Amino acid sequence: MKLAWGVEIAGTGLGIPDRVVTNDDLAQRLDTSDDWIVQRTGIRERRLGRPDETTLPLATKASWAALADAGLTPQDIDLIICGTITPEHQLPATACELQAALGCRWVPAFDIAAACCGFVWSMTTAAQYIHTGMADRALVVGAEYLTSITDMEERSMAILFGDGAGAAILRRSDDPQRGVLAARMGADGARGRLIWVPAGGAAEPATTRTVNERLHYMRMSGREVYKFAVTQMHEIIQETASEAGVTVADIALVVPHQSNLRIIESACKRAGVPPERVVVNIDRYGNTSAASVAIALHEARQAGRIRPGQLLMLVAFGAGLTWGSLLMRV
Ligand code: UT7
Repeated sequence: MKLAWGVEIAGTGLGIPDRVVTNDDLAQRLDTSDDWIVQRTGIRERRLGRPDETTLPLATKASWAALADAGLTPQDIDLIICGTITPEHQLPATACELQAALGCRWVPAFDIAAACCGFVWSMTTAAQYIHTGMADRALVVGAEYLTSITDMEERSMAILFGDGAGAAILRRSDDPQRGVLAARMGADGARGRLIWVPAGGAAEPATTRTVNERLHYMRMSGREVYKFAVTQMHEIIQETASEAGVTVADIALVVPHQSNLRIIESACKRAGVPPERVVVNIDRYGNTSAASVAIALHEARQAGRIRPGQLLMLVAFGAGLTWGSLLMRV
């Protein structure tokens, strides 16, 4: 599958909480240490939102910044996709709430619940809308308030996650040199319970009992997810490059999901991507699920690490299980 969708990233933006929580802060109330967390994950600190810094406010902030960066107004947007597993409300979609918050027109607005793949899948979906002519300028957001589904009393989970949002404007491009060269999306639902939230859905609606039993928080089989991630991520990087008819060495920058520094280093090494071509910011944000690739993409652009004509790859894996990649010439 060699694609050639004429799209470009017109702008990006960031929406992160002010509050920085370091490993030492967590170690004051949990049986853990800065050493353990840094050794096992690479995380040094994360941002945790206050009650007024939840998914929608963070997504809104990131969206305004991306619009300004692109030189566009909300009226210019004709598609809104939000990757999130912590929607502002169970109903309606956060993308619809975002449409109203920004004052956009009555354009299609929907969420994609693909966990850590949320932003990559949203970018791929938006690129397809643009390619088919259903949209010209899409607002694509990855936003999470993982605080709402993380058991802060459980050390193995509390240390991993952070809150935040990143946004990108994807726009039609007539430049034949620019666009998506290859994209992959995959899922294995049989392994869905390796990361899941047992209660609060249709199968087990929230009750006093489910809350008392902390069933509304994420559960994860960390070791198994780790093995899946390392294998899947290096394979998908290589497969996506070969589908596009390029080599991994041709890719100027890889923006991977920030789940664990060891996973990123090991997968990129196995795929043949040198460390200087990999964006890493997990030390400052932890794992922000759907927001992670969006935040890393924004920071890489801000730092001037993506230059016109270069090949950029976004790649992620996560709950579902899901995986996805997007290879673009920017
Ligand atoms: O984006 C979503 C996808 N999720 C992921 O990518 C997560 C993938 N998995 C991982 O990143 C790793 O499995 C973790 C970082 C979550 C855990 O690292 P690990 O090396 O797999 O550790 P473990 O769970 O096997 O635990 C090793 C030991 C255990 O103690 P014992 O049984 O050996 O005595 C844990 O109880 O470390 C203990 N432990 C901790 N110790 C200090 C677990 N969490 C902590 C902690 N501080 N926070």
